[in-house]
Amino acid sequence: MHLLFPGIWKHEGRILTRNLIAGQKSLSEELLTVDGTEYRAWDPYHSKPAAAIMKGLKDFPIKEGGKILYLGAANGNTASYFSDIIGMKGIIYGVEISDRAMIDLIQLCRKRRNIAPILANAKLPKEYIWIERVDAVYEDVAARDQTEILIRNCQTFLKKGGYAMIAIKARSIDVVKNPKEIFRQEMAKLKEHFEVAEEIDIEPFEKDHELVVLRMK
Ligand SMILES: C[S@@+](CC[C@H](N)C(=O)[O-])C[C@H]1O[C@@H](n2cnc3c(N)ncnc32)[C@H](O)[C@@H]1O
Repeated sequence: MHLLFPGIWKHEGRILTRNLIAGQKSLSEELLTVDGTEYRAWDPYHSKPAAAIMKGLKDFPIKEGGKILYLGAANGNTASYFSDIIGMKGIIYGVEISDRAMIDLIQLCRKRRNIAPILANAKLPKEYIWIERVDAVYEDVAARDQTEILIRNCQTFLKKGGYAMIAIKARSIDVVKNPKEIFRQEMAKLKEHFEVAEEIDIEPFEKDHELVVLRMK
């Protein structure tokens, strides 16, 4: 077992986080106990940051005690791993537009008290303007204007020098254009506001997706 980043380990080919709530897991998830500590296996086929880690990400901007704005939290799968990593001193503001996904997210937040569920549209930061400024913004919203959504949220909520992370889904931006061309086009928009720390193609875990880590200028 070796430490990849603070709060993230690799063991027998799997990525692990330490389970913040012992015994708590989703149906499909695997729990492992190593030296008396319970860990959760983080599946790169179901979570894009885990895919980027498998593909050799060099630095991970979600850290212990971090305050995170998560756009497109869905049922909280990836957010639950961020919750393990940040621990009880951190907080995740999980924004999700779907009522259906929100029902599951609220169930998860009852157990994981470091996630605050917010039923809102990530295109309209005014809907959750009350949240505090954050250390990192993660966006996984499959929308044509997903780059603009990230920029707007970072301008509103990200601390100076903070990190942003976006999962760019080429097919949501344009179904016919070559994904490489789409990535170039979105990166050009992002570079106006951010320095690029890392840009990772996450195939074979997700087709036509990149995970990009950025630092606000
Ligand atoms: C690919 S899924 C997210 C999966 C999740 N990030 C995970 O890894 O566990 C995208 C989510 O974004 C949500 N979404 C789409 N448009 C949105 C918007 N404008 N504001 C907030 N959430 C949005 C969808 O309802 C969906 O749950």
